[in-house]
Amino acid sequence: MKILTFAGSLRTDSCNKKFAREALRLAKEAGAEGEFIDLKDYPMPVYDGDIETNSGIPETTVALGKKIAAADAIIISTPEYNGSIPGILKNALDWLSRDKPVTITGKHLLLLAASPGALGGIRALWHSRQPFEVLGVHVYPDMIALPNAYNMFDEQGKLKDEKTIQRLKTTLEQFIKHVG
Ligand SMILES: Cc1cc2nc3c(=O)[nH]c(=O)nc-3n(C[C@H](O)[C@H](O)[C@H](O)COP(=O)(O)O)c2cc1C
Repeated sequence: MKILTFAGSLRTDSCNKKFAREALRLAKEAGAEGEFIDLKDYPMPVYDGDIETNSGIPETTVALGKKIAAADAIIISTPEYNGSIPGILKNALDWLSRDKPVTITGKHLLLLAASPGALGGIRALWHSRQPFEVLGVHVYPDMIALPNAYNMFDEQGKLKDEKTIQRLKTTLEQFIKHVG
């Protein structure tokens, strides 16, 4: 099984990039293959129907759509912005939805979130489900919100807390079995 994973953040030191990378590392231990991609490598303008009419779909959207098409499943770790899905992730999804056929439709998705706050981005998880489900994505029922995320990773970006590692491992094993 090929898993594509990325974060809904562009920032170099993003705790969501670390969480997404850790999810991939543990998914590989559970028998999956896959890769992490950085949305910073797929810069897209803010969606504007005039850009679409005059220039078409951005090449970066098409390239991201191809990566998604080649994957059996997707894992996204998203930040929470003002209690909801961050604009960068929603914008990427809006552009992806304009490139027909929509490659993310029918894919399995595991949603994760990481935040320095006490709620771990749980509201972003619930808000993110909706646009993905509207596009026909099979969003896995279980989701993980990681609170206190600035203190959860070591210098190498590895998760430090054994309970969190076990929770992520179990969820990944169940997700992989479900997609299987
Ligand atoms: C515009 C903005 C809004 C934010 N709103 C929230 C929020 O509602 N809940 C929360 O837990 N953190 C919020 N934060 C803090 C983010 O969780 C924090 O910046 C986090 O590091 C972002 O994820 P990243 O490390 O992957 O970039 C917000 C940050 C920004 C920049």
